Amino acid sequence: MKRDFLAETDFTTDEMNRVFELCRQMKQGEITPKPLLGKTVGCIFHKASLRTRISFEVGVSELGGTSLYITEKEIELGKRESIYDAAKVLSRYLAMITIRTFAHSDVEQLAKHADIPVINALTDLLHPCQILGDAFTIIEKKKKLDGLKIVYLGDGNNITNSFINLARRFPIHFVVGTNPGTMPDAELLKLAQAEKVGRVEVIFDPKEAVRNADVVYTDVWASMGQKHLAEEKAALLKDFQVNDNLMKLAKPDCLVMHCLPALRNAEITDSVIDGPNSVVFDQAENRLHIQKAIMLVLMDDKRLKN
Ligand code: CP
Ligand code: NVA
Repeated sequence: MKRDFLAETDFTTDEMNRVFELCRQMKQGEITPKPLLGKTVGCIFHKASLRTRISFEVGVSELGGTSLYITEKEIELGKRESIYDAAKVLSRYLAMITIRTFAHSDVEQLAKHADIPVINALTDLLHPCQILGDAFTIIEKKKKLDGLKIVYLGDGNNITNSFINLARRFPIHFVVGTNPGTMPDAELLKLAQAEKVGRVEVIFDPKEAVRNADVVYTDVWASMGQKHLAEEKAALLKDFQVNDNLMKLAKPDCLVMHCLPALRNAEITDSVIDGPNSVVFDQAENRLHIQKAIMLVLMDDKRLKN
């Protein structure tokens, strides 16, 4: 049966560890698999993208395949024809689909009706490829993930929700430092807190949130599709800016992370994003390797070294 990757929880902990190991092997050049030889992957993007689109297209090419960049303009998914019809037709041409759009339910519907694997390249709800890449970066730098205090400061958005899902698979201590008016998804939060795999907390005081952190992560205060709320969000979140004063409360070797693109000197200061603890460009690089690993696991490629 075909597999999709729409949410972190589509993979078991063992499968995620396999993704991390494949990612490491490809990054080190220990393996150079080409399972996509002669195949085409469709990359449907309804929102702007630098990292995700380019790392997917480069990744498909490195796995031996061809990528096809498809914007809303060409296919008008769900408007010109139903998502069902589009899913059936695309499945006759392509080996796999990656899709970035607004409603998570559109991606679920596409995956349900497609006969080929579908990968979530970001929705309003989740950004699972980003979070797997970030978890890999943390493991690279800290040599572990379990037990770390990972603090996310700012808007409760798709990145926050994806970290909450990561805490449903790994025993991390995930702290969301945010304003009561910018909370992450209530349902995912409830699930993670009930499952108790990792410990997930929401703290409204940025100083208390960041104390002794192993990782401090932030993202733009207004995500794509929400730019009209930028001023309102900035007013609610100004105390959650990642700056030198706040970073003094974290551990001295605390990693500073941001998925990028950043609005410099809004959610994070230049001094911190360009400072010695920042790993933002390693995160960006790892998107390439992790997405190749995700594609391999979805294709269940048995030729790979374990
Ligand atoms: N981090 C990330 O997904 O970047 P893009 O929006 O540029 O793809
Ligand atoms: N939360 C951001 C992430 C961009 C990679 C957005 O959705 O715009």
